[in-house]
Amino acid sequence: MIKRALVTGASAGFGEAICRQLLADGYQVIGAARRLEKLQSLQKELGDNFIPVQMDMRSTQSIDQALASLEGRENQIDLLVNNAGLALGLDKANQADFRDWLTMIETNIIGLTYLTRQLLPSMVERNSGLIINMGSTAGTVPYPGANVYGSTKAFVKQFSLNLRADLAGTKIRVTNIEPGLCEGTEFSTVRFKGDEERVAQTYAGAHAIQAVDIANTVSWIASQPEHLNINRIEIMPVSQTFGPQPVFRD
Ligand SMILES: NC(=O)c1ccc[n+]([C@@H]2O[C@H](COP(=O)([O-])OP(=O)(O)OC[C@H]3O[C@@H](n4cnc5c(N)ncnc54)[C@H](OP(=O)(O)O)[C@@H]3O)[C@@H](O)[C@H]2O)c1
Repeated sequence: MIKRALVTGASAGFGEAICRQLLADGYQVIGAARRLEKLQSLQKELGDNFIPVQMDMRSTQSIDQALASLEGRENQIDLLVNNAGLALGLDKANQADFRDWLTMIETNIIGLTYLTRQLLPSMVERNSGLIINMGSTAGTVPYPGANVYGSTKAFVKQFSLNLRADLAGTKIRVTNIEPGLCEGTEFSTVRFKGDEERVAQTYAGAHAIQAVDIANTVSWIASQPEHLNINRIEIMPVSQTFGPQPVFRD
């Protein structure tokens, strides 16, 4: 039987690259995001094995509606990639906009946990499934201005590990991918609210991770034998290490 994946944040960046790779790996892929028109144009390019669905991770109602529109396919998800997420701003905690904090918490934590909670019962019933969450090195390594973003990703990491504890005795697998600096996605454009000069500065000389690297990682995790669980996988560009601010050398 054809395997089915649900990938959130499919309209850009990692999510789009992951959808492309999973289709190449033979999955039917449900791609979720708010920008339906982007997903629909992807479908034109990728074909009918890519199913676009509009989903706003900040709204449990929108998640419910999206799942209901899948006409039963939501009960046969073999691979859930909880990738949708964002960072907003890089201001110190005393200066940050609280609405930005709320948006990150609602998207990165509440939406992710709600969608997972909705899909888990059918995975447990079928005793089968793989959940890949998109964490970040920011969930482990603090840096100035990462205050709430890093904390949401620390939540995602611990949620992934705690899911494994609950799922002990089942065949369901859970992985947290923790990428460092990655370029070529909309991540920094969103974070810096369209300030492209700041975006360019962030990546100058970094030789950062590419979305395709993360898509390859997802593909590798999903292709591991059933008896193996990759708990966490932390990936950095060579130019990045553990200092609060990366220093790049060409
Ligand atoms: N890029 C990096 O350096 C980096 C490093 C570590 C971890 N990450 C994590 O990797 C994930 C993907 O990042 P990316 O670099 O691919 O960013 P991106 O290019 O900005 O893509 C983010 C995706 O999330 C979706 N999204 C955002 N808010 C949403 C909402 N409320 N409801 C539904 N979908 C929403 C966006 O779709 P719509 O706008 O169409 O809804 C978009 O498809 C995020 O969780 C991010 O935190 C990124």
